[in-house]
Amino acid sequence: MRRYLDRTGESRFDQEFAELGESGRDSILSHIGNTPLVRIRRVTEGIDRVAVFAKAEWFNPGGSVKDRAAFAMIREAELSGALTRDKTIIDATSGNTGIAYAMIGSALGYRVVLALPSNASTERKAALRAYGAEVILTDPLSGTDGAQQRVKKIVAAEPSKYFYPDQYSNPANWLAHYRTTGPEIWEQSEHSITHFVAGLGTTGTFIGTSRRLKEFNPDIRCVSFQPDSPLHGLEGLKHLGTSIVPGIYDESVADEELTISTEDAYEMARRLAREEGLFVGISSGAAMAASLKLARDIESGLIVTVFADSGARYGSELFEVDGREQSTRNAGLEDQRND
Ligand SMILES: Cc1ncc(COP(=O)(O)O)c(C=O)c1O
Repeated sequence: MRRYLDRTGESRFDQEFAELGESGRDSILSHIGNTPLVRIRRVTEGIDRVAVFAKAEWFNPGGSVKDRAAFAMIREAELSGALTRDKTIIDATSGNTGIAYAMIGSALGYRVVLALPSNASTERKAALRAYGAEVILTDPLSGTDGAQQRVKKIVAAEPSKYFYPDQYSNPANWLAHYRTTGPEIWEQSEHSITHFVAGLGTTGTFIGTSRRLKEFNPDIRCVSFQPDSPLHGLEGLKHLGTSIVPGIYDESVADEELTISTEDAYEMARRLAREEGLFVGISSGAAMAASLKLARDIESGLIVTVFADSGARYGSELFEVDGREQSTRNAGLEDQRND
């Protein structure tokens, strides 16, 4: 992958990436990236000298930030010859990356096989199948590790049949953010970003975006956050202390590291929906909570964070319990209101 970091290699990749390849041109895939940057105003009330903005990543066609990485890994594999027309894209993910592979595979005409624990949500399985992906259900007791082991077995048995992107150690993952998310934030913030905040999953978003932003301005402080305990409900994020650290992670990139509790993330996701008109997912609630912690700590600045996906992807888990509480509260206190 070094070649992408030297001038010659970079210009070659960038040009072909921009052109999307023959089958991607003019397709839905040309709408990956260039997501809006929105200002958070009400949740930050009382904090005057710091502005907080968020990248609205659910505007991507597959509904999440992972479209960027999945597309970059697939394009890079097409360019390097690792992915050819006769191959099947295979991976183990029930999350946003799986949906991104399924969408991109459908748009480009590749077969996609995804292994996931059988207890993955019905909506997730339905979305993957709707895009035409083949879903292999694995033992729920062995979680995503079990799904990953199954994929490795399948690939080992017939290596020439499959392309296995392996997002945790594939440099095209972070390079997607180095090439797109970083420059977009730099331009959209009119070069005035002072702090970048992002959560760690595969770590591609944080590593790639931070590396690029620091090239634009080495004074930009990059702050990562992760769940505060191994048993957490922040889907898409990893508690690095107790997980296998992704191969693409580089601990020298973060200037500061924060931890966020599941409760704070859920509460903040609800507030973003109610107070900002932003119906976002749980990791976005965590991103906002981390940004708010930071905003309270610094004198002044412009913080940019990433809202990875929409609350629609979580539905009842995120909002139902609160909805019940809310209606009880409204019945007692605000029963005259009829809006
Ligand atoms: C909802 C959500 N938030 C955050 C992330 C983390 O992004 P990354 O994998 O680039 O670290 C993911 C990754 O899957 C995700 O699905």
